[in-house]
Amino acid sequence: MNPVKIFLLVGDPVKQSLSPAMFNAAFESLRLNSVYVAVEVPTKFLDDTVAGVRAIGISGLNVTTPHKIRIVDLLDELDDSANLVGAVNTVKNQRGKLIGFNTDGDGAIRALEENAGTVKGSKVVLLGAGGAARAIAFSLVRAGAELTIANRTFPRAKALVSDIERKLGSSANSVPLRRDRLRKVLKNADLLINATSVGMYPNVGQTLVTSDLIHHDMVVYDIVYKPLETRLLKEAKSAGAEVVNGLGMLVHQGALSFKVWTGKQAPIKVMESAARRELGRKDK
Ligand SMILES: NC(=O)c1ccc[n+]([C@@H]2O[C@H](COP(=O)([O-])OP(=O)(O)OC[C@H]3O[C@@H](n4cnc5c(N)ncnc54)[C@H](OP(=O)(O)O)[C@@H]3O)[C@@H](O)[C@H]2O)c1
Repeated sequence: MNPVKIFLLVGDPVKQSLSPAMFNAAFESLRLNSVYVAVEVPTKFLDDTVAGVRAIGISGLNVTTPHKIRIVDLLDELDDSANLVGAVNTVKNQRGKLIGFNTDGDGAIRALEENAGTVKGSKVVLLGAGGAARAIAFSLVRAGAELTIANRTFPRAKALVSDIERKLGSSANSVPLRRDRLRKVLKNADLLINATSVGMYPNVGQTLVTSDLIHHDMVVYDIVYKPLETRLLKEAKSAGAEVVNGLGMLVHQGALSFKVWTGKQAPIKVMESAARRELGRKDK
């Protein structure tokens, strides 16, 4: 038997992560001699952790908050996705060379398109300009969406738009995160995406957009998956809009990491049921 391959999630905190359950179920279902473990790494130990990954030959990493940007400088190479976004959520150890990828954006689009059809030509309003929003914004523009970004810290939205324009040569818009401005842009939007942490457990009563700003032929996508039905999705349902929750993104960004590490198609259904089960367990 080949020696066991070890994959790690590095972040701080990682206690609530669904990824170990999701990946270990995937490895088991394809009978791969691999194991996935979440490790809590404070920022001051990130350099040592990456040195450790090299020293003991860890096969791959997932990287989460707060290390997605900082780890970029500790790797040997970045693929296109990580280069564009300037952040990494997946690392592959290729015979000692550490290569960074970013699967968040394409994972989000796959989950969305699986549920609500193509984003090509859609008018999209994206809430947020943090790590996940950045990745999603680049993937949306590459997939042919017309993008407007709204963020609480407006200069971050503007900076993201100028990054997109510089790196992709496509235009995008930014607006301040104010009700009057949102009302205006949402009137003509096909898709609203929440890529902020607003509405996430334990702040489940919060939403940036209420039903009066949503119209019924719009799709509303919330990447927050705890809870699965956020206040925003409740507001959207009451306005008659189609809704997509954040579990699909979690599964698809993971499935893309799985493909990077193993070269194999991920068992999507197995991963989704494992993530759903774990979410139920962590709720108790
Ligand atoms: N489904 C998935 O697979 C998946 C993957 C990644 C992330 N996520 C979820 O996505 C969310 C964002 O993650 P991230 O990594 O992008 O975090 P992040 O980099 O910390 O960004 C947070 C974003 O939320 C905004 N925000 C936070 N509190 C706010 C408030 N009270 N009012 C308005 N805006 C607020 C921030 O705005 P400012 O710029 O003004 O601070 C920023 O745009 C988290 O809930 C995370 O769990 C889901």
